Amino acid sequence: MTWVLDKLKLHKKKLQDSDDKSYQLFKSKMRLAIFVLIFCTFHYGSGVDPKNFKTCDESSFCRRCRKVQPGNSKFVLLPGTLNTYSDSITIDLINKDTNHLFILKVEALEGDIFHVLIDEKTPLQPRYRVTDALKGTPKSGTIKVEEVNDNQLSITTGINKAIIHANPFKIDFYQNDVLSVSVNAKGLMNFEHLRHKTQPAIAGENEVDGEVPEVPKTIEDEDPGAWEENFKSHHDSKPRGPEAIALDFSFPEADVLFGIPEHADSFILKSTQGTDPYRLYNLDVFEYVLDSKMALYGSVPVIYGHGPQRTAGVYWQNAAETWVDVLTTEKNVVSSIVNFVSGSRKSDPPTAHFMSESGIVDAFILLGPTPLDAFKQYTDLTGTANLPQLFTLAYHQCRWNYNDDKDVETVSAKFDEYDIPMDTMWLDIEYTDGKKYFTWDAFKFPNPLAMIKNLTDLGRHLTIIIDPHMKRDSGYFFHNYCTDNGLYTKTSDGKDYEGWCWPGSVSYPDFFNPVAREYYSDQYLLSNFKTTTADVMFWNDMNEPSVFNGPEVTMVKDTIHHGNWEHRNVHNLYGHMQLMATFDGMIKRDPNQRPFILTRAHFAGSQRYAIIWTGDNLADWGHLQHSIKMCLSEAVAGFSFCGADVGGFFGNPEIDLLERWYQTGAFLPFFRAHAHIDTKRREPWLFSEKTRLIIRDALRKRYSYLPFWYTMFYEHEKYGFPVMRPLLAHYPADKDAYAIDSEFLLHDSLLVRPVMEKGVSKVDVYFPAKDEHKNGDVWFDIDNFQKHEKVGYETIAVDERKTPVFQRGGSIIPKKERIRRAATLMKDDPYTLVVCLDKDGTAKGSLYIDDEKSYDYRAGKFIYTKFEFKDQTLKNSFETKPNYDTKSWLERVVIAGLDKTPKSATLYMDGKPFELDILPHEKAIAIRKPGVNMAKKFVIKLNY
Ligand code: GLC
Repeated sequence: MTWVLDKLKLHKKKLQDSDDKSYQLFKSKMRLAIFVLIFCTFHYGSGVDPKNFKTCDESSFCRRCRKVQPGNSKFVLLPGTLNTYSDSITIDLINKDTNHLFILKVEALEGDIFHVLIDEKTPLQPRYRVTDALKGTPKSGTIKVEEVNDNQLSITTGINKAIIHANPFKIDFYQNDVLSVSVNAKGLMNFEHLRHKTQPAIAGENEVDGEVPEVPKTIEDEDPGAWEENFKSHHDSKPRGPEAIALDFSFPEADVLFGIPEHADSFILKSTQGTDPYRLYNLDVFEYVLDSKMALYGSVPVIYGHGPQRTAGVYWQNAAETWVDVLTTEKNVVSSIVNFVSGSRKSDPPTAHFMSESGIVDAFILLGPTPLDAFKQYTDLTGTANLPQLFTLAYHQCRWNYNDDKDVETVSAKFDEYDIPMDTMWLDIEYTDGKKYFTWDAFKFPNPLAMIKNLTDLGRHLTIIIDPHMKRDSGYFFHNYCTDNGLYTKTSDGKDYEGWCWPGSVSYPDFFNPVAREYYSDQYLLSNFKTTTADVMFWNDMNEPSVFNGPEVTMVKDTIHHGNWEHRNVHNLYGHMQLMATFDGMIKRDPNQRPFILTRAHFAGSQRYAIIWTGDNLADWGHLQHSIKMCLSEAVAGFSFCGADVGGFFGNPEIDLLERWYQTGAFLPFFRAHAHIDTKRREPWLFSEKTRLIIRDALRKRYSYLPFWYTMFYEHEKYGFPVMRPLLAHYPADKDAYAIDSEFLLHDSLLVRPVMEKGVSKVDVYFPAKDEHKNGDVWFDIDNFQKHEKVGYETIAVDERKTPVFQRGGSIIPKKERIRRAATLMKDDPYTLVVCLDKDGTAKGSLYIDDEKSYDYRAGKFIYTKFEFKDQTLKNSFETKPNYDTKSWLERVVIAGLDKTPKSATLYMDGKPFELDILPHEKAIAIRKPGVNMAKKFVIKLNY
């Protein structure tokens, strides 16, 4: 520290001696540095203080919604108001206590989805309805409506049915006559209508026979926070008063609930009885606590209920602050007997109670019935990740910050010196001129284009950060334009909203305004951001938005966005709207290159534009373990491309933690090392040779599986299933597997159980059951093809190099085994197919190939091959004629699980046979050099 101060004093002296302008600049930079330093010490100092964030009890609407008592719903349908359409019905709904009228719409959608909408019939002002989350307008189904009796109405579409109960209001959703989701079964619905702020009743007014009638008090009338609310030193003016909505969803067939990321908690949701609900409110929570229901950076309001027979889901489309109570009862013998006698599966099924501060009820019922069906129903609505450029699935090297262009060049060169693959160098906020985004620090990065070229010449890429807060600096073009054109988010009295963030005083573009989005997206054009190239990718951070001096480190709720909507209504969408603009800008910049954007804030549908990471974690073992739990929850909520800062963002990881983190990260979709500015440098060569080699091995293993990753992401876009999957996705009947979140599947082919505990020499790996008779799959250790056939836990020995990963018998995985400095340089390299046989001696798999970069695949320029092994023969086939000119060929076929070793193999290609050598191995065989081009049909037969 003294050294830094001495240096600064010297620098100051020099500048004082030089011209006045430089001295002034130095002075203002120092002031800013001191501000940021003080602020960072406060903001990023000693871990999160949960007291800085609201509990449900400190949030007026959550408190109010939680007060609604079950079993006594005040909402009733008015049957005479029924309107029937080809795809939907509408009917009025009344609150018996207030006589206020609402309108319910139930709509059938294609693909086993129902849509439930409830709004006020004639609201005082329009209520906010989320836009931009769905990928398009869902296709309607056709319905048949019948009155079952005075109190019930049935809507049928194919095998699905909704029974709507009038009094008390409830909807039961069935598939094949199995009750899958019930709405308002517990009667927790709440819908606070908009109203004028009532004056206290004055004697004489409204008198009836000389008496002032008693006005019935609602929960909201009695809550002191209904019309204005304070938290810490912050005041929320709440001009529209109480407007919360809430509804409960029960899952009669479910044993467990999961979903609603982002929380640093287990994959299976815990009961919230006696604790706070899970909170969905995009917040910048640094050094977040683990096993917590507190809100984090993203909010994806989709939840699933799962049991051995059925999975169903609910997507609650609301972008306001939302809390979710999870009501699950532990199963006991008594309740099982009661259920058995009453013929119902559950007397008190797991229930999710969604409570949002404003908006309307806009819920999608996903009827499954399998976990994969339900996941696909969700991605059919909100979209999938776009097929990424292949290099983005490789390894990313980041830290806050690489100091200057020399540093970037040296780090990149060191990866080559130590023969460690790496694809992308990242630059954090310090590359900018005074944290003014779309600019460069001219001293540290005098020639960005040359720096970028150095990287791209090596096959590497650069990704740089662009945060949404804009420095309020009259010398900054972006700020001036937004100020002059009214493009910033406004305060309730019409001024530009100002907050603090990295640059000091900042304002926030109103991304809900199409003009602001357009201006912002234009900044990514090469004609504007001239010091970048079309190969530079972007990182949108702090977009919750983070406001250091705002309530709960975010924007006050009564600011105003385009369309006169309060921030309260749209908070969880703010980052999403920025991402839309960034994506649009990158497409405008180069229409034929697939954009890569990393975001911290996210909402339902953001997966169409960006990938996510789990934010500011800590270099400790618990955070390593939570990276799996968190990414699993994100994956079932549409975000397959997820990862965590390898090594941990805050703190300096112990060596073994760092090694294990690399080994774990190598099997998570997004693989990036990142570290806080105050941490010690931790590039792989700064450690012992042993550590460096362990890291190198992990990276090389990742690179060898890149064809598998790429194929998985292609299939994700094509079919809508997650890439990273919980065990229950493929083993839905195995109840012992539900709560396992230290393991995961990649597709249905790899079972990964990273070592995430300190100092262990063995880990217990759970091999799941396919049915209630405990039949399982055969699994092959990917390092030695050791076979595992037992269902249940097995202890696996792990030395410091070992990550237990198993390939399922019955799968074929494509790999590339010539590892180069960057994935881009492996494009034309040959493939290895790893065939692991099931108990019947069969296996299947696929491989996707294209130019790894452009959108030409959407015009059919790709190869998608299916492989099948059966009767001692491997064959390939193509759904569509191969339409991409690949140089890659088949170098090796490894087969594990054969009963006996074949003598040779024959390749049949173009009708001609070719003899191939076989290298026997203890537990597998390798067929050498089939040499066939990957676009060609072939057959390889084993000879005995
Ligand atoms: C936020 C990000 C972190 C980044 C830092 C500086 O804390 O989460 O990854 O390094 O900001 O930009």
